[in-house]
Amino acid sequence: MEIKKYPLQQHGDSRGHLVALEEKTDVPFEIKRVYYMFDTKSGIVRGMHAHKSLEQLLVCVHGSVKILLDDGTEKETVLLDNPYEGLYVSNNMWREMSEFSEGAVLMVFASKYYDEDDYIRDYDEFLRFVGKKF
Ligand code: TYD
Repeated sequence: MEIKKYPLQQHGDSRGHLVALEEKTDVPFEIKRVYYMFDTKSGIVRGMHAHKSLEQLLVCVHGSVKILLDDGTEKETVLLDNPYEGLYVSNNMWREMSEFSEGAVLMVFASKYYDEDDYIRDYDEFLRFVGKKF
């Protein structure tokens, strides 16, 4: 499975650092929605779903988090532990977020508005959707 991590350009000087993200330049799609997860309790696993058409870019803007990606054939776990790289998550990709560090903030840029109909929350249904189970 190809893991697409995007280096995000930092504008740093003696005052500190800043990252600016523009749609279709730094984020590979038009951004329709941004949300962030914070205050995630120890031991919690979030996500556990796939999307039929939504694309996302995940940026851990504070702390660290592990992201499991599963395309129905292969699984890869990616550590996000800095605010200057983004992990692209395509549609048809099962994802699980775990091991949130204390105070971690995971920001998500999404290509569509929130739509519960775009979610696949059942793993067997996901495998059927991507043609890996009949
Ligand atoms: P949920 O999908 O359970 O988060 P995750 O699966 O990533 O752990 O979302 C938690 C709640 O927030 C759920 O009631 C739906 C709501 N929600 C929105 O209203 N808008 C959004 O953009 C998202 C991502 C969630």
